[in-house]
Amino acid sequence: MLNRFRQSSYAPGPHTLQFFLDLPQFRKDPLGGFFRAALTYGDVVRYRGVWVTHQLSHPDHIQQVLQSNFANYRKGRGYRILKLSLGEGLLTSEGALWQRQRKMTQPSFQGQQVASFVGTMAENTLAMLRRWETNAKDNQTFDVVPDFMRLTLNIAAQVLFTTNLEADAESIRRTLDIGRDYSVDRAWSIFPPPLSIPTRRNREYRAALANIHGIIDRIITDRRRQSDRISDLLTMLMEARDESGAPMSDKQLRDEVITLLTAGHETTTLALGWTCYLIGTRPDVVERMQAEAAFLNGRTPAYEDLMKLRYSRMVLEESLRLYPPVWTLARTAVNEDDIGGYRISAGSEILIFPYITQRHPKWWQDPDVFRPERFAPENSAARPRYAYLPFGAGPRTCIGLNFAMTELLVALTLILQRFRITLAIDPSQVRPEPSVTLQPKPGIPVRLEKMSPRS
Ligand code: HEM
Repeated sequence: MLNRFRQSSYAPGPHTLQFFLDLPQFRKDPLGGFFRAALTYGDVVRYRGVWVTHQLSHPDHIQQVLQSNFANYRKGRGYRILKLSLGEGLLTSEGALWQRQRKMTQPSFQGQQVASFVGTMAENTLAMLRRWETNAKDNQTFDVVPDFMRLTLNIAAQVLFTTNLEADAESIRRTLDIGRDYSVDRAWSIFPPPLSIPTRRNREYRAALANIHGIIDRIITDRRRQSDRISDLLTMLMEARDESGAPMSDKQLRDEVITLLTAGHETTTLALGWTCYLIGTRPDVVERMQAEAAFLNGRTPAYEDLMKLRYSRMVLEESLRLYPPVWTLARTAVNEDDIGGYRISAGSEILIFPYITQRHPKWWQDPDVFRPERFAPENSAARPRYAYLPFGAGPRTCIGLNFAMTELLVALTLILQRFRITLAIDPSQVRPEPSVTLQPKPGIPVRLEKMSPRS
């Protein structure tokens, strides 16, 4: 039988020797390397290394992989590495298991549920802002990122298990950092040693994993012993049943909890951090956000108030465009496919970069300029839907999108009700470092000025 793919040609890209020669440079500056490749070779770039990888930048091609032909693309090599940490949780599982878990978890993230988390989000933010009063009084310069890490971890822990993880926070953070660095090293390594070999890194990683498993198992066991019903995400996950009426096993529950804790807090931290970076040099933008929130008269926003904060939402959307915390998405082609007239062989790795497509001059005017107005409905209508994907797209879109946007809007509104925030570093000195997520290096140092309370 004539295979329709036989007629398509291979996409352009560096030849194998060039690929290996360029590899150290790519590792040093992945964003620059992949961006240059997209501009040099076009919408589909083919890399021939130890395995074949295709880089996609065109919204139509992204749609094909993430939406219209999604069944042909399983999660890529990077996620298989993350699986070591996250097990069979939602982010890393596949096929029928993923479908079952997504169905069981989805109700916990619907509007009404998320609305019930607003109080926790606000309380934790206000606690952080009370500490910030001292920073403002002393005119301190401080990095907002560690504070946001603590904030989002506390919020995630409280909505997940009604537990204050303050006592474990430091150890969880260290554990997640070890897990992240380990995953990145493995992703760049051609022949990473199996986890069972007791190298120093492997031992450190296994100890970190055992630590977080211990903390979460303890929480689950305590909960099973409790007679009162506690209304939180963990209870919802424990009470969820699949179509056959079966609950999640303890191991599955643990994988989902680790996944939600991991996927939910660092991403939100970075979105908040990068937003402070962007507005920290734009008093005009801050004033507009504050004017828009003036109807609150200084009170904490309720869930229903958030939809009135249209401009603030646009600021967040623009921040997620310029600095998408999830800067890359990886898939593996199950069967052969044709993308844009190019042959994609079965088993080929696919890389999609929200960072690149969201800054590509084909889809965005003045792509590097921070301009929230580009997200006004009248300015967005003509843009291809898949040119913007900070939360992914298709059936595997971020389940926490609404949760995250709510948390971001609540936190940002509360901050700007109380403080004027100024970036305390030359903006050009902060660079995005692509780890598993897009980290600001050396951080986001700011100074605060306390505003007089509204009458
Ligand atoms: C600004 C914050 C966030 C960003 C930028 C973000 C981004 C993303 C992206 C891009 C994906 C898709 C990955 C892929 O297709 O391979 C994803 C998936 C996911 N996210 Fe988020 N996320 C954020 C917040 C959250 C929060 C708050 C939670 C939970 C509390 C969460 C939980 C998840 C889960 C479980 C998945 C996997 C969904 C599935 O495959 O069914 N995320 N996220």
